[in-house]
Amino acid sequence: MEEKNHDTAEREISRRMAAMPEPLLTWYASVRRELPWRVSPSPYRVWISEIMLQQTRIEVVRGYYERFLAAFPDVNALANAEETRVLKLWEGLGYYSRARNLMRAARVCRDEYGGELPRTYEELRSLPGVGPYTAGAIGSIALGLSVPAVDGNVFRVMMRYLADDSDISRASVRRRTEERIQAILPPGQAGAFNQAIMELGETVCIPGGRPLCTSCPLASHCLARKQGDPEAYPVRPMKKARAVEEKTILVLSCRSRYAIRRRPAEGLLAGMYELPWLPGKRSRAEMEAWMAEGPGDGELTELPEARHIFSHIEWHMKGWRIDLTEELPGEWFFEEAETIRREYPLPAAFRAYAAHMQ
Ligand code: ADE
Repeated sequence: MEEKNHDTAEREISRRMAAMPEPLLTWYASVRRELPWRVSPSPYRVWISEIMLQQTRIEVVRGYYERFLAAFPDVNALANAEETRVLKLWEGLGYYSRARNLMRAARVCRDEYGGELPRTYEELRSLPGVGPYTAGAIGSIALGLSVPAVDGNVFRVMMRYLADDSDISRASVRRRTEERIQAILPPGQAGAFNQAIMELGETVCIPGGRPLCTSCPLASHCLARKQGDPEAYPVRPMKKARAVEEKTILVLSCRSRYAIRRRPAEGLLAGMYELPWLPGKRSRAEMEAWMAEGPGDGELTELPEARHIFSHIEWHMKGWRIDLTEELPGEWFFEEAETIRREYPLPAAFRAYAAHMQ
């Protein structure tokens, strides 16, 4: 009996899914935005855009994308680039491991695929930083492969359309969602279909706030809409609270030059540059004690507190500007503010204090 109910439910889902492509593609043809990466969508151009668009809004990506493509127009240019230059062009986009993985993958393409991206889903998937979503996007948009590309937007549309309250962080739910889309991909139009459903999630079936159901081409078949509460989907597990790290950021200055150093090659913000810092929030008395131990003479000026939120941690910072009479030896080196701004990738986390370098 249970088996039979399950089969009936699956048949009902298949019928509902089959109603999706036609209105979705018609809608997409009329609203499709002219985005830079949609112009001559080569695998390289689509790859860079899809990596940049992860966790980042389209309007932010536009400018970065043009500059990145101008600097590194193809796989070999990126594979042969200096890491600092790539990170500099990524500065402010966040999630810097994306940029380092791009370089690693570009080197694999240079060394193993003759300077091109590979042309099958499995080979794409094997590149560093390329997961099922990105492989699906490159494969369907640039290579004409009939494969799904399920990102957060697609999950949201799908879970609402089917009023499915499954936990979308589970691998089995991803697989099932991919299979349901795979089954209805219109022949020769997987790229358009995948982009259409993403676009619907970005502009109509939006997160955080009421979806614009009256503008939705799928409204008449959408189960969450029928139930009256589309915002109840998708269901996510409770997020863990972020760990908080307290830091004292130092704007160490000597005759208009400022101390910076490179972060370790592994871990958070790997390979980026930073201002020197000390653990904990230090009072004036603590800073004076620290100065007495090493730097000696210098003028201390308190700087405002600031916060930066990463995906899993928050930095709660306070700052001290220290004007030294002599450049201090240490694991840092001194550069002019203009040179730092032009050449060294400094993450946005330090922005509030980097503004004091002038
Ligand atoms: N978001 C991420 N990639 C996208 C794409 N190719 N089309 C529309 N929205 C997107």
